[in-house]
Amino acid sequence: MVTSIFFWVLLIRKYYFVVEPYPYTSLDERPPQIQEDDTHHIFRNIDRGPTSRTPLFIRAYNSMSDECVEEWVAHHQWGPACTGTDLSAGLSIDGVWAWVNGSDPLQITTRQRYKPDKAMKMDAAHRYVEHNELLYSMRSALTSLGEDTMQRLHILASAYPHANGSDEVMAGQIPYWLENNKALTNKSRIVLHHDADYFKLIEKPGTNFTSWERGEWKEAAIPTFNSLAVESQIQNIEDTSSDQLVYYNDDFFTLRKLSVSDFTTPLYGPVIKTLTRLTSMYLPAKDTFWRTINPAGEEPGIKRAAWVLGMRFSLRPYYYITHHPRTLWLPLLREAAQTFPEAFTDTALSRFRAQEDVPASVQAVFLGSWYVVERHREALLWTWTIAKWGGRSGTLSSKLKARMWNELANEESPSASRLSIPMPVRVPVKDRHVFQAANVSMPTSTEYSFSSKDGYALAYVDSTWPWNRPRHGYPDLTRGLLENNQTVDGSKLLRDPSFIPARACVIKRSTCFESYTQNETANNFFKRIAFERPECGDCIITALIGASGISGIDKFLPHHQADRDPGLHADALTLPPHLPLTSDWATTDFSMKNAIPKGSLETGMTLRTWCTRLIQRYSYVLGSVESDFYKVERANTLETKLDEVELKVEEEGPLAFLCLNDDVKDTGKLRDRIDELLMTFFDRMWPSRMSFEKQV
Ligand SMILES: *[C@@H]1O[C@H](CO)[C@@H](O)[C@H](O)[C@H]1NC(C)=O
Ligand SMILES: *[C@@H]1O[C@H](CO)[C@@H](O)[C@H](O)[C@H]1NC(C)=O
Ligand SMILES: *[C@@H]1O[C@H](CO)[C@@H](O)[C@H](O)[C@H]1NC(C)=O
Ligand SMILES: *[C@@H]1O[C@H](CO)[C@@H](O)[C@H](O)[C@H]1NC(C)=O
Ligand SMILES: *[C@@H]1O[C@H](CO)[C@@H](O)[C@H](O)[C@H]1NC(C)=O
Ligand SMILES: *[C@@H]1O[C@H](CO)[C@@H](O)[C@H](O)[C@H]1NC(C)=O
Ligand SMILES: *[C@@H]1O[C@H](CO)[C@@H](O)[C@H](O)[C@H]1NC(C)=O
Repeated sequence: MVTSIFFWVLLIRKYYFVVEPYPYTSLDERPPQIQEDDTHHIFRNIDRGPTSRTPLFIRAYNSMSDECVEEWVAHHQWGPACTGTDLSAGLSIDGVWAWVNGSDPLQITTRQRYKPDKAMKMDAAHRYVEHNELLYSMRSALTSLGEDTMQRLHILASAYPHANGSDEVMAGQIPYWLENNKALTNKSRIVLHHDADYFKLIEKPGTNFTSWERGEWKEAAIPTFNSLAVESQIQNIEDTSSDQLVYYNDDFFTLRKLSVSDFTTPLYGPVIKTLTRLTSMYLPAKDTFWRTINPAGEEPGIKRAAWVLGMRFSLRPYYYITHHPRTLWLPLLREAAQTFPEAFTDTALSRFRAQEDVPASVQAVFLGSWYVVERHREALLWTWTIAKWGGRSGTLSSKLKARMWNELANEESPSASRLSIPMPVRVPVKDRHVFQAANVSMPTSTEYSFSSKDGYALAYVDSTWPWNRPRHGYPDLTRGLLENNQTVDGSKLLRDPSFIPARACVIKRSTCFESYTQNETANNFFKRIAFERPECGDCIITALIGASGISGIDKFLPHHQADRDPGLHADALTLPPHLPLTSDWATTDFSMKNAIPKGSLETGMTLRTWCTRLIQRYSYVLGSVESDFYKVERANTLETKLDEVELKVEEEGPLAFLCLNDDVKDTGKLRDRIDELLMTFFDRMWPSRMSFEKQV
C-alpha cells in the first residue's frame, strides 16, 4: 500500500549522487564557512534515536479521578467528585513557530545547491524575505495570552551543512534578536529547535531501524526547504512544558486578549477550527493530478491525508482546517504519527514543496486534527459494540443483536427493518456554570460550534447551507434548552406531542446488523458498522446520543459491574487507554483481548472507566473565530489596510487574528515602502520586548 521509504531513500541518493555526483557545480557555490555568532549556532549532527511507539498520557486527564471522569464524561456534570481537581496541567499552552531566515546567504546557497535540476516550480524568492514577522508574531501571542498561559515558546529553525570540512557539522539559524544563551538551554521560556535535531524516524511495528538507516533517512530529509516536512515533525519536539501546543505561522498576529479556552481546555479538549463550506470539502485521494498541476498548493497534501485517514477509519470527505493558529495536543499528534509512521516519515523526504521523485506528502496538521475526531468516533462505537455488548466472550448471537437493536430503537417499534433516528436534543456545548465550577476562564472570541460530547461532528454537518450560516454548519441541538438560565427537562420535551424532532438519519437492519453467520464476533460487527458501512456507525452514534438524554454518553458505556477478564489487570496503568495503532482497519483485530493487552488495566479500574477514559482522550470542540487574511502585494493598498486594522483594534471588535501573507508584487522603492510600513505597524502594535530578546 505505502511504498517503503528505503526504496525512496535509495532513489533520492541515486538522484543526487549518480546524476549529480558532486553537489557543487562551481567553487563559487561552495557554502561559506560559518562561525558561531549571533545568527548561527554550530553543532554536530548526531543520531538522536527514533521516536518511540509508546503513546503518551495526557497530564490534565490523569489528574482527574475515576469518579470525576465518570461524572464529567459519562454524565456531563462537574459536581462533587470533580471539585478540587487540579486542572492546571491542561490550562497552559506552548506556542510553536516555524521560521527560516531567507536572507541568510548560507540559506540561499544551500537552497541553490539542493534544488532539483529537473524543472520544478520553485517557491519565489520573496516568500523567504522577512520583516521580522517572527518577533512580532511572538510578541502579539504572548501579549494576548499572558505569560501564565503561554509558558514556553518554541522556534523550529533550519540548519545547513557548511564548509567546515566535515559533513557532520551544521550551522543552525538563530534570529539575530534572540538572547541565544537563553534559547539553547532546555528549561527556559524560549527553546530553539533545529531540524537536524528534531527530525526523527519513527519506529514501525516489528522493525527497529539501525542507526545507519536513521542516518540515511535524515540525510535525505535535511536540509529542508519545505514547511510541510517541518510540520510532519512537530510531534518530535522535546522540552515542552505543556501537552497543549498552538502552532503559529509567523505571518499570524494576535490582535486581542484571548483566553486559554479560545484554544483548548481540559474540559472539552482541543478547539479545532474548520471551514465547512462545500467548497472547502476535500475528497480523499491517494495521489492526485493536483500533484502535477499545482504541486506547491495545499491540495495534494490534504487529499492524501484524507486518504491515509480513510484507510484506517472510513473514506469520507473532510473539511479544511482553517489557516489560523492551530491547537495540537502533543500526545495525540504523536499518536497520529505512531498510527501512520509512513505518512509522517515520507513527508519529511520532500526537501522542497512540489518535489517530484519522492513519496507523496501529507499535511500533518490536517491529518492530526481529523485524527482526533475519528478516534473519538471509533472509541464510542468500540465501547458500545465490543466492551458493552461483546463482553468477555466477544460473540454477538442473534439474540444479543436483537437486544442491541432494541436499544437503538429507544422504545420505538423495535420490530421494524429500519429505524428512523431523530435529531438529539442536548444542552448547550459551552456551559457557563461548568466553566465557573471548574475555575476555567470562558473563551473570549471563539464560538464553540460543536463538541464531541454530542457525538460525531461529520454526522450532522450541513455544508450546503448558504454562506453565512449560524454555527458554521453545525446544528443547534439545544432546541431552546437552558436558554435564559432555565433548565428544561429534555425527556419531557421529547414526549411533548407538539414537539416534532427533525429526522437525523436511518439505520437499516439488513445493512448494519445482518451477517452470514448466526453468531458473529463483536470484532466483525464493529468493523462493519464503524468502517465498512460508516453510515451505520454514524447513525448508531446519533441514536445513542439521543437515547442518553440531554447530556452525557451513558448509553454507550458498559455497566459498572461489566464482566471482564481478570487477566487484564496490572499493578499500575502503564499505558494510556487507546485502540490499536495500526494504519489499516481491514487487517486489524479489535477484539477486547487485542485492544486491551494484558497488564494495561490498573488494579481496581473497571472496564467502564477504561472506556470512559478512552473516549475522553479524544474529546474535541469544533469552533470558529473572527480573523482577517490579507495578501501583502502593493504598498498603496497595504497602507489603507493597516489603518483599517488599527481602527478595528481600537474599537475592540471581535477580530482576533490577522494574517499578513507575503506576496509582494512591488519592486524597488515601493518594495522599500512596504518594508517601512510593516515595520512601523508592528512596532506600534506590539512595542513591549520579551524577556529573551537581546538588549539593544
Ligand atoms: C568544524 O567544526 C567543529 C565543531 O564546531 C570544529 O571543532 C572544527 O574545528 C571545525 N573545522 C574547521 C576546519 O573549521
Ligand atoms: C537574516 O539574515 C540576514 C543576513 O545574514 C541578517 O541581516 C538578518 O538580521 C537575519 N534576520 C534575522 C531575523 O535573524
Ligand atoms: C535538559 O536539562 C537537564 C537539566 O536541567 C539535563 O539533565 C538534560 O540533559 C537536558 N537535556 C537536553 C536534551 O539538553
Ligand atoms: C526493537 O527494540 C525494542 C527496544 O527498543 C525491543 O524491545 C524490541 O524487541 C525490538 N524489536 C525488534 C523486532 O528487534
Ligand atoms: C481559580 O484559578 C485562578 C488562576 O487561574 C487561581 O488564582 C484561583 O485561586 C482559582 N480559584 C479556585 C477557587 O481554585
Ligand atoms: C443561573 O443559574 C445558576 C445555577 O443554577 C445560578 O447560580 C445563577 O445565579 C443563575 N443566573 C441568573 C442570571 O439567573
Ligand atoms: C450461538 O451462540 C449461542 C449462545 O452464545 C449458542 O447457544 C449457539 O449454539 C451458537 N450457535 C452457533 C451456530 O454457533
